[in-house]
Amino acid sequence: MRETLLVLDEGTTSTRAMLFAPDGTCLGSEQKPLTQHYPGPGLVEHDAAEIWTKTAQCATAMVKAAGGPDAIAAIGITNQRETVVFWDRDTGEPLAPAIVWQDRRSAVICRELKERGEEPGVQARTGLLLDPYFSGTKIGWAMEHWPQLREAGSRLAIGTVESWLVWKLTAGERGGGLHVTDATNASRTMLMELGSGGWSDGLVALLAAPRHALPEIVDCAGRFGTTGLFGGSIPICGMAGDQQAATIGQACLSPGETKATYGTGAFVLTNAGAVPPASKNRLLATALWQIGGRRTYALEGSVFVAGSLIQWLRDSLKLIGTAAETEAIARSVADNGGVYLVPALSGLGAPWWQPEARAAISGLSFSAGRAHVVRAALEAQAHQSHDLKAAFAADGADWARLRIDGGMVNNDWIAQDLADILNIPVDRPAFAETTALGAAMLAGIGCGLFADLGEAAGMRGKVETFEPAMGAEARRIRLAGWQDAVANVVRG
Ligand code: G3P
Repeated sequence: MRETLLVLDEGTTSTRAMLFAPDGTCLGSEQKPLTQHYPGPGLVEHDAAEIWTKTAQCATAMVKAAGGPDAIAAIGITNQRETVVFWDRDTGEPLAPAIVWQDRRSAVICRELKERGEEPGVQARTGLLLDPYFSGTKIGWAMEHWPQLREAGSRLAIGTVESWLVWKLTAGERGGGLHVTDATNASRTMLMELGSGGWSDGLVALLAAPRHALPEIVDCAGRFGTTGLFGGSIPICGMAGDQQAATIGQACLSPGETKATYGTGAFVLTNAGAVPPASKNRLLATALWQIGGRRTYALEGSVFVAGSLIQWLRDSLKLIGTAAETEAIARSVADNGGVYLVPALSGLGAPWWQPEARAAISGLSFSAGRAHVVRAALEAQAHQSHDLKAAFAADGADWARLRIDGGMVNNDWIAQDLADILNIPVDRPAFAETTALGAAMLAGIGCGLFADLGEAAGMRGKVETFEPAMGAEARRIRLAGWQDAVANVVRG
């Protein structure tokens, strides 16, 4: 019997294929980095052809490692959200660069819509705020500025990354793949009505998106189609945006359960149950999963810069050689020496939503050294998370404990600092790849290996808990310094 689950986890900086046994054991992983294109300030693009080629290479390696396509029960896909791909239905080739979620090019469109008083209506329908982060204004910008998209007419197909991958996986030699998106990814476009789960004609018109080019919105688990690309037929049975997949992989299956993923950015999602939440504190409402046509929702705080800050310290400032050494550097000084780093390198997300804000390092004196700046960068993770916790609490959804994951929290110092500053227990799973695990769980449900998410959650392994150990005064001083630093960036 086929039991192995193949996950395609297409993140912002790399793409990966992983194999899972139904008990959650990871049987293999193949990863390739993705080229980041920065054609100008605030602009971030990917090459969709590269995303596909490298994902297919990783998948091929994993199908081989599994012993061939007949060993694989199903494929689950999870992906960087909001990034939008434009392709030609006839050739199956990209028609333009993919505009990445971090890209700020549609800030002007968002500002104009805000000035016209459109934000409350957009938030009520989609759960989102007017920020260039979401796909809808990126699509509007692209239709206006890239004539080849308009010239393509009915050949134009638009989708987020999972949609692009499903198209390529299911396309025959003459093109004609399956054009679908799942409800979690669709809920990040600003074109989907959160309550009904369908495209909104009003929003499609408001954002000047071509309705005919949008995919069909489907569940997160089911038999969506099959791929014959790996030497045999494998069904595609799971799909979710990476933050939703991580929430599922962390088994946040009941209202109030919360996870934070510290990857390229930091994303906190609290399970909000069967009714879309309405934030009054600049948080987002989003689809957490859709199974059997029924949606469960989440309240989300999205911070744009987390792990990418450490990359920037390494690659641009050359302050560190590797991300791993930051833990020892942070421990080498007694405190931050008054240095704070506000990582607004691509504007500020929740709860500020200031696309034009820029990063700052403050509190520097002659006694400040490299270790203080590195420590300030690590401390910024807990500081930003604390701002989100306050917003969630004000929305009536305070966190009693937090489940953490993502590359950054392999760093024990960060995990402990989160517990200390948030003043709640923080749980870290022994197996950190919760995003991929969530996609495997969905694929397992979609192909019938599991009856539901409760059963699929058996894939999750042990967790380690970090208890808060910081004194109240030390916490107060840390947070007061951060609040001053962030106020300068927000005002500036
Ligand atoms: O919303 C953007 C998010 O999906 C990106 O995730 O894992 O690349 O930080 P990640």
